[in-house]
Amino acid sequence: MLKIGDIRNDGGGVMKAVLVGIAVVAMAGGSLKELSRSQPERDVLSGRVIYSTICIRCHGVEGKGDGPMTFSPPAADLTSPAVQGKLDAGLFKSVHDGKPNTAMGAWREALTDDEIWDALAYVRTLAPEQTGGMGSGLR
Ligand code: HEC
Repeated sequence: MLKIGDIRNDGGGVMKAVLVGIAVVAMAGGSLKELSRSQPERDVLSGRVIYSTICIRCHGVEGKGDGPMTFSPPAADLTSPAVQGKLDAGLFKSVHDGKPNTAMGAWREALTDDEIWDALAYVRTLAPEQTGGMGSGLR
């Protein structure tokens, strides 16, 4: 025997199911985005913008440390094996915390970690070809 109340309850149940369905889809979409953001792939284009806004003054257009501003010790040649040979974590620390007693300041306040990684992805593209494809990305 169906009463009006039962029908209403059923309707509510269907409505709830639909809402839960939408929520699940929305959450799945969110976590997919989260996943792709946590990939090691970095945004070289965004890094290039950051580099040419901030880093270029000292490190120069090609990263050779020949920017318009000069320092003692001089800005590092970012294309050199001395820099390109370092692991990402070491370079990240240099940019994040700066290098004591040099003009290389700490960028942790001005840039987010993601922005520093993007800038470093761009720095990796400055490596000369003959260093064995080191310019092919973060390591
Ligand atoms: C005010 C000038 C200046 C600016 C701006 C600057 N740097 Fe530097 N950077 C230096 C100097 C000077 C050194 C060399 C430090 C040394 O002798 O150890 C250096 C060194 C480095 C190194 C090498 C660190 C290492 O561990 O060998 C990297 C990588 C680097 N800078 C990246 C960047 C990036 C990326 C930016 C932009 C977010 C940036 N720098 C902005 C002056 C600057």
